[in-house]
Amino acid sequence: MTIIDGKKVAKEIRLELKEKVSGLKNKYGRVPGLVAILVGENPASQVYVRMKQRACDEVGIYSEVLRLPEETKETELIELIQKYNSDEKINGILVQLPLPKHISENKIIEAISPDKDVDGFHPINLGNLVIGKDTFYPCTPYGILELLKRYEIETKGKHVVVVGRSNIVGKPVANMLLQKKEGANAIVTVCHSAAKDLKKYTATADILIAAIGRPKFITADMVKDGVVVIDVGINRVEDKSTEKGYKLVGDVDFEEVSRKASYITPVPGGVGPMTIAMLLQNTYESFNKSLNLQHGN
Ligand code: GUN
Repeated sequence: MTIIDGKKVAKEIRLELKEKVSGLKNKYGRVPGLVAILVGENPASQVYVRMKQRACDEVGIYSEVLRLPEETKETELIELIQKYNSDEKINGILVQLPLPKHISENKIIEAISPDKDVDGFHPINLGNLVIGKDTFYPCTPYGILELLKRYEIETKGKHVVVVGRSNIVGKPVANMLLQKKEGANAIVTVCHSAAKDLKKYTATADILIAAIGRPKFITADMVKDGVVVIDVGINRVEDKSTEKGYKLVGDVDFEEVSRKASYITPVPGGVGPMTIAMLLQNTYESFNKSLNLQHGN
């Protein structure tokens, strides 16, 4: 059994990007730029945005963070996004989700220029993803594909079972693995909370991707021997023995399921660190695409 070390792979990717960004700086005198917009005081979102900023600093990507009050109006947020859409220093615009209830997430995502949508959430980019065109992959699914690739885990012809159908993880990762491409070409089943007998599906998975958001939901009886397990869940559960009073667990019962798995991602230290690494990767790719556009390619 191999534990997939997302922390290590994410670090490798950041080091590779650092080299590439330094190359861009030498060649063009400019570096890629990312703006993260945070509305309100959601504690988890504050942590994520800080981690994103730190990762940008490490790699040499220019970053701005815009912290806006909870009461920010939808129209104000859209105006700010439009300003960044035409700001040449900025190649990636990220609006941290969830947003306060009075703001429509769909409207905000659609206000971001698809060329700067480094989260890959814009309907145009998701549409391109489904039809197999070049696009920005959403960061967590992109991180999952990258882990499978770097651990040389074959996906072609394999049965991938995705548990969860969110727009951020379940739907895009299922569509990406379905493509007739290197690192994909899988047989994909998507399950969700309405499944009457979830185990019937999960037990046939060669690769199981758990993105349900329920602690330790996938148990050993639900998987077959030799399964590859990708755990996307990050759930806080109470634990009085820790300083913070809680600990993080995945959607998979790691203790039990790891005894049957051939590969498994831990929580924390699996998929989580990859999400931010791939955000930086997308920002770098966006910069390169903007250069190609300027040179008329
Ligand atoms: N909230 C949870 N995950 C994400 C993500 O990948 N991007 C953004 N913008 N918000 C999130």
